[in-house]
Amino acid sequence: MATIKEVAARADVSSATVSHVINHTRYVSETVREQVERAMRDLGYRPNALARSLRSGETHTLGLILPDSANPFFAEFGHAIETAAFERGYSIILCNTENDLEKERVYTEVLENKQVDGMVFVASGENRAALSLITQKGLPLVVVDRDMGNLELDTVITDNYQGGFVATQHLLSLGHRLIACITGPSHLTPSAERVTGYRAALLQANIPVDETLILRGDFHASSGYANGLQLLQRLPRPQAIFACNDMMAIGVIRAASQLGLRIPQDISVVGFDNIELGAYITPPLTSVAQPKPAIGQLAINLLLDRIQNPALPRRRNVLPVQLVLRESTGRSL
Ligand code: RIB
Repeated sequence: MATIKEVAARADVSSATVSHVINHTRYVSETVREQVERAMRDLGYRPNALARSLRSGETHTLGLILPDSANPFFAEFGHAIETAAFERGYSIILCNTENDLEKERVYTEVLENKQVDGMVFVASGENRAALSLITQKGLPLVVVDRDMGNLELDTVITDNYQGGFVATQHLLSLGHRLIACITGPSHLTPSAERVTGYRAALLQANIPVDETLILRGDFHASSGYANGLQLLQRLPRPQAIFACNDMMAIGVIRAASQLGLRIPQDISVVGFDNIELGAYITPPLTSVAQPKPAIGQLAINLLLDRIQNPALPRRRNVLPVQLVLRESTGRSL
């Protein structure tokens, strides 16, 4: 096995430069990087990550725990996290818990055993077991999206209340009064806060909240479809539906199409997340945009600050959301 010194000699650079190329720990010009990588290929050199981590006590690897990597919001969020981490010289190990608390606990142990330098954690629910395990081990941690409230942890969330409020206010501004809501899992803070914003907007417009117009979904398109069929066959039919995420809104649009209803002429639909797909479905989806790149960048910055300085005061960040208007909302005909 070639050594780092042999690679340096072959590339006509110092061993320190080879190390910086491998670890992304300092700027290296594209020319030098290519020289070193060519020398590594020619000599068949493979960095010994384990030896390196034993020496430095760091692996330059971060754990990312997600509850549903198949959901486009988390796919786009995960992309933002990976991009931000790679720019700072870190690799990501992604763990998908499928909203299963046991998997969440197992993966937390796996990442701890892999000696990750820190973790970005999107909780599957209220269970604190995995979080306690992480914090007891003193592992640097940033909680994202699902607010863990009273725990003293670095946190990055979005203003879900405001998102639910402005989505509903938009539908009211179109003249709609019979406005339904399909929630996400009620135990998750993002969904609960969006529904609270929906209620507040109705009450501000002096419209009593009709609890029969609030149906429980699970953030999957199938629940939007099933609840959409139920709502759209009621009499009187709602004039608009606010779905607490885009995947459920897409399910509602399928249900409306199946019932021969036109969007927005017969029913307006608003989603939440502003996933990329939403701009390309028919009709394009009005949605409350979550700033996924900014969430990822901020989460990585907080985590790397924490890794460098464990004594930093905890920081809690609530990022603003923005209503993106497309053709799925309009005045009733
Ligand atoms: O679409 C998945 C949902 O789960 C998003 O709204 C995100 O906020 C997460 O809570």
